[in-house]
Amino acid sequence: MRLGSSRATGASPSCLTLSVLLLLHCRHVASTLGQKSALTVVENTEGGGGGVEEEEVTVDNDDEEGDLEVVHPTEEWQTLRPGQAVPAGSHVRLNLQTGQREVRLGEEQLKYWTQEHWEEEEIQSSVSPEELKQAMKKIKEDLNTASKDTDQQDSVASKYRPLEELKRDMAQLDLLVETDVQIMKRLLEQLNSSSSTTEQKMSILLELEYLVHQVDNAQTLCSMGGLQLILQGLNSSDFRLQESSAFVLGSALSSNPVVQVKAVERGALQMLLTVLATTQPVRVKKKVLFAVASLLRHFPYAQRHFLSHGGLQVLSELFREDGGGVLRTRIVTMLYDMISEKELIFHAGLDPGLDASYEERLRQYAQVSLQGELLEKGWCNLVPQLLESTEHDYREKALRALLAMAPTCLEQYRSDSFLLDSLFSLRDQYQEMVQSEMILGEENYYFAEIVELIDALQVKIK
Ligand SMILES: *[C@@H]1O[C@H](CO)[C@@H](O)[C@H](O)[C@H]1NC(C)=O
Ligand SMILES: *[C@@H]1O[C@H](CO)[C@@H](O)[C@H](O)[C@H]1NC(C)=O
Repeated sequence: MRLGSSRATGASPSCLTLSVLLLLHCRHVASTLGQKSALTVVENTEGGGGGVEEEEVTVDNDDEEGDLEVVHPTEEWQTLRPGQAVPAGSHVRLNLQTGQREVRLGEEQLKYWTQEHWEEEEIQSSVSPEELKQAMKKIKEDLNTASKDTDQQDSVASKYRPLEELKRDMAQLDLLVETDVQIMKRLLEQLNSSSSTTEQKMSILLELEYLVHQVDNAQTLCSMGGLQLILQGLNSSDFRLQESSAFVLGSALSSNPVVQVKAVERGALQMLLTVLATTQPVRVKKKVLFAVASLLRHFPYAQRHFLSHGGLQVLSELFREDGGGVLRTRIVTMLYDMISEKELIFHAGLDPGLDASYEERLRQYAQVSLQGELLEKGWCNLVPQLLESTEHDYREKALRALLAMAPTCLEQYRSDSFLLDSLFSLRDQYQEMVQSEMILGEENYYFAEIVELIDALQVKIK
């Protein structure tokens, strides 16, 4: 098996293309030899004439037998030295500037890395160094036999013949690789199957959650009837399915107006509010709140319906029940986001470069009577309670929300002795921490910022 390649140093566009194709081909070759995408590419510097150089899928022949060093790839590209081998699933590329081979974790590995499935993945796919050495040796032997049969003088043939082979192999590769659409179709069928267990459904939902981070995928999922299935999961009597379904829904809705509209059309808002009002486990409520926040974000129509369907009432019950502060903080952050989103739109009126849809958005946001509802439902006195928390982060979120609500809530703030006392004692506490020589670096800036928030709030209340 021998592949011709142009020398990368004189990189004309066609050379570049060829090198890139070669890498794809090499990956394919490596996997057909049974070592799933593990690969070392070694450049032979005594290349043939006509500027053509050979690249082989092999290991360095000068290497001591059985002396392969196995590299542990990370998220970053790292340079491979001759004779180093990589674990299955890694990505290997040729850096065209330096001529060095580089390796990092493959897509699958990266996916699990970010999904915090790193430990599981490592157990599942780790190849023992011994096994890897054996496999690499096998490749080396195969290639040594193959290269003897090749006519090394025929540089023209070695330049053009592989291109045809590449095309053929790429076409086969296309057939072998499952696209996201195919994967989602398969997952939805499994999710819809009555023979799938709850555990299977949960892992299907986790896979879908990963896929719907891509805007296109989330929209395709909707058009395949996936939204309906996920809403059914949300309505399930098993809280684990409710949790996973809310997670998928929240991710599909994030920054995806098409999905936001479809979800509202399907009655997702009412369902989410019902689950929020009736379900018990906090972990389900957390994910459902995430889905609600994603649904409402930059979507004044949904915000208006949220208010008219008693959304703030549901949230205030949740707020009162939550002792730990996790849900309280999420709720307060959500309110803060909604207030500042609307503020931003109205302030954007001063910006001359506005598009035609601006008037329409302005009109829709004007119908979201958030501030009035906040006042009416008692939020001016609820939000200060989050200051009881011992978490700096929770207090900071509370202070920001209190500032955003100040135009509406000033009267309530002024007669709220809990709030006034809290602001005084917190200011002392943070001022002291800022001045303390024990605390250094970033934390100090953070505490100074909290002092500034308290100051700003006190100025408004005076
Ligand atoms: C789920 O199965 C039902 C029939 O059992 C079918 O009507 C429906 O279209 C399926 N939904 C999806 C998204 O596959
Ligand atoms: C949710 O489940 C209840 C019964 O468990 C059912 O009556 C209702 O129609 C379901 N809603 C949706 C949208 O599937």
